[in-house]
Amino acid sequence: MASRKELRAMIRAGRVTVNGAVVRDPEARVSETDELAADGEKVRRGTVVLMLNKPAGYVTATEDPKERTVMELLPEAYRRLGVVPVGRLDKETEGLLLFTNDGALAHRLISPRHEVRKVYEAEHEGEAGEADVAAFQAGLTLRDGTVCRPAALEPLGPGRSRVTLSEGKYHQVRRMLASCGLPVTGLRRVAEGGLVLGDLPLGGWRELCPAEIIGLETVQNRQ
Ligand code: URA
Repeated sequence: MASRKELRAMIRAGRVTVNGAVVRDPEARVSETDELAADGEKVRRGTVVLMLNKPAGYVTATEDPKERTVMELLPEAYRRLGVVPVGRLDKETEGLLLFTNDGALAHRLISPRHEVRKVYEAEHEGEAGEADVAAFQAGLTLRDGTVCRPAALEPLGPGRSRVTLSEGKYHQVRRMLASCGLPVTGLRRVAEGGLVLGDLPLGGWRELCPAEIIGLETVQNRQ
């Protein structure tokens, strides 16, 4: 709504309130739940959604005592906005990882109820065949008895397949392919909830635009 400098001036001039009380200190701390107003008008504290092309070697966590986290790949300002990862990618998985400061949106994207589709490209040993495609389609049962929903497996040639899932169980793609005798050697998520990674470079990030955020807020059982 204004530059940092202009905001400081507005605050010093007594034009800004926090929970109805004028605050003249630009360093005053506020929390997500405080209500801010400028010139009597409520300030909307918008939803931020980011897309990162995660490189291998980073854990999906906000902090970790030993490992590098995906948060280290984002500018510090986003941490201050309360942005956190939505779901997770394994340390060695690359590709599309969303972040948001909107808890309800994150919940929607993670909840199995909404069947948000995620597309992965896998490199693996062996070659996927018709029997594997049929097994994915029918809904695989993993070695530990975990039952997976029907999923799509598209062989892309020797040692390469595309997998589309509507759920996100622990190490799911790796475990599904391993259960067909196709151990994964590389994994990348290329799409989620209708969003595609596109040409975002590895380690690069971008903010989603309002239309893309609305698309995610209404996503249900579609690509
Ligand atoms: N499935 C996996 O096995 N790993 C991921 O990171 C995501 C899906």
